[in-house]
Amino acid sequence: MADERDEIRSRVDIVDLVSREVPLKQRGRHWTGLCPFHADKNPSFNVSPETGRFKCWSCQATGDIFDWVMRRQNVDFAEAIQILAKEAGITLKRGGGMPASTRQQYETAMDAGLAFFRENFVKSTTAQEYCAGRGLDAATLDLWEIGYAPDVGVALPNHLKKAGVSLAEAKTLFLVDGDQDTGYYGKFRSRLMFPIRDEKGTLVAFGGRILGDGHPKYINSSDTPLYRKSRVLYGMHRAREQMGRERRAVLVEGYLDVIACHRAGVATAVASLGTALAEDQAKLLKRWCDEVVILYDSDEAGQKAAARAVEILEAEKLRVRVALMPLGEDPDTLLRNAGPAAVQTAVTRGLSPTDYRMQALERRLTPDKDEFWSEAVTILSETTSEIEMTAHIDRLSPLLPGTRDSNLAKQTLLRMITRTRRKAKGGGNQGPERPTVQRENRVILGELKAAEIVVFRAFLSEELRKNGWMFARATNLFESGIAQRLSEAILAAFPLEPPTGKPAEWLAKLEDEGIRSALADLLYEWRGDALNGQVFEDSIIKLQKAMAQREFRRLRAAGLSWEEVSERIRELNPDPTDKPKDGDDLF
Ligand code: UTP
Ligand code: MN
Repeated sequence: MADERDEIRSRVDIVDLVSREVPLKQRGRHWTGLCPFHADKNPSFNVSPETGRFKCWSCQATGDIFDWVMRRQNVDFAEAIQILAKEAGITLKRGGGMPASTRQQYETAMDAGLAFFRENFVKSTTAQEYCAGRGLDAATLDLWEIGYAPDVGVALPNHLKKAGVSLAEAKTLFLVDGDQDTGYYGKFRSRLMFPIRDEKGTLVAFGGRILGDGHPKYINSSDTPLYRKSRVLYGMHRAREQMGRERRAVLVEGYLDVIACHRAGVATAVASLGTALAEDQAKLLKRWCDEVVILYDSDEAGQKAAARAVEILEAEKLRVRVALMPLGEDPDTLLRNAGPAAVQTAVTRGLSPTDYRMQALERRLTPDKDEFWSEAVTILSETTSEIEMTAHIDRLSPLLPGTRDSNLAKQTLLRMITRTRRKAKGGGNQGPERPTVQRENRVILGELKAAEIVVFRAFLSEELRKNGWMFARATNLFESGIAQRLSEAILAAFPLEPPTGKPAEWLAKLEDEGIRSALADLLYEWRGDALNGQVFEDSIIKLQKAMAQREFRRLRAAGLSWEEVSERIRELNPDPTDKPKDGDDLF
């Protein structure tokens, strides 16, 4: 496995990989661009072909090709390996998810299922009439590949068998149920079928709506080897390009709402699938945009779901606005009842979460109720915008019962809000932020002495690596804690021989990510003179002197006599003016 990873690393060029998504310019030995992980105005994002790593000096995002794929495609390590193996043209021997051939088989089965539903849609007048009744024209039906699952249970298994698909496999894909003895039957029957494609357009699941009323209204594929519903958003593969351009997404509740939005020209609409928005879905959105407009139903269930979605999206540092739909409408009915402009307007009229919560509260309760005020104070105590809070206080204070003086009312409200805030803070659920490896790195790198940096820089350089390695392993030579850690890590990873090739090829052998990124940082951080043999030699001498001093103090503190100390130090640190004789291969 480790070998395969190295193989992948050596074959995939990080500059090539990153520049597909982030325009990069070459600056000396590095490539720079705008960081895709935060709103970057000046290029603070660096990619180093030497170390095979990326690094943002501003938001501290850092990692290698696997980290890049994990973060950009929202996948775990095993999946990142799969993706990059494919890229590198390597067939993985084992582990790391599913073999390519199995995936291929699954995808073929799903495609056969879709072909079946599409064929049956063309044959079914009921399905077509239902769609016509909902205002779905032929182009829309084609674009979204709407299908129909007939009521005959054995029809799909028969079709799949003919297409050479194993029914046991089709069962794991939520296409059929049953078994060999009792017979197989289709999971979806008499349902309008919505194919669900992942971000890349791979068909991974289906949603099936009953024609007309009935329960359950929708049946959706459960999680399968191809599909994790918490990671997929309906419509994402059609929305993502536009989303990336606008840096904004519109989040709706249902399949038909996504379709309606796209028809209304809101091409950034996506929906979670029969479940509340999941953290991974928010992460997926975060890769494409900075702002999400939530366009949910305005009934109570819709409002609750919106409140939850706000929390999840804000946790991913996405800006959120919530659009209030006219009561009883969803984007699909709005499009049909009021036209595309009404859908677009709903999106542009999105409110901040605070305004949205206040409006919802004011619809529900009146200011003569105590409950109104306690909820209003909670909402305002949770807003991050002081401007918004002040505006609401100004607006609401004349309504506060029992206070005539509006200034006094303002102060009273403000005091209530402050008190609530203080209580929430004291609650202890907002402990100090855990320092990240990256943040820690910055500090520890600052701690390194210039001469120490030279030794590790030499270890990273092609020409001086052998000498750098020799001294980098001498843990006692170093004074700072981080240098000692780097030294130990190098000793552990390369005990007998220095590594060969570019750091990109061997950096991964160092076990600790903190150490890896610290070493990679050293390649960037160098601000001193050009590194050469002389600089290296001077640095070693400096470090040896310092080591001798430390040793001297240690020995004296341990109670050794001056003579004993002098003897030991001379052994340890020969006079640096004793230049090596010609032919002495010191370095
Ligand atoms: P809605 O009940 O709002 O349905 O559910 P809808 O999307 O507006 O559909 P129409 O217009 O009545 O045909 C919103 C979404 O919640 C999921 C589906 O993804 C649906 O699109 N859902 C709903 C289910 O998964 N199962 C259900 O039984 C109901
Ligand atoms: Mn609807």
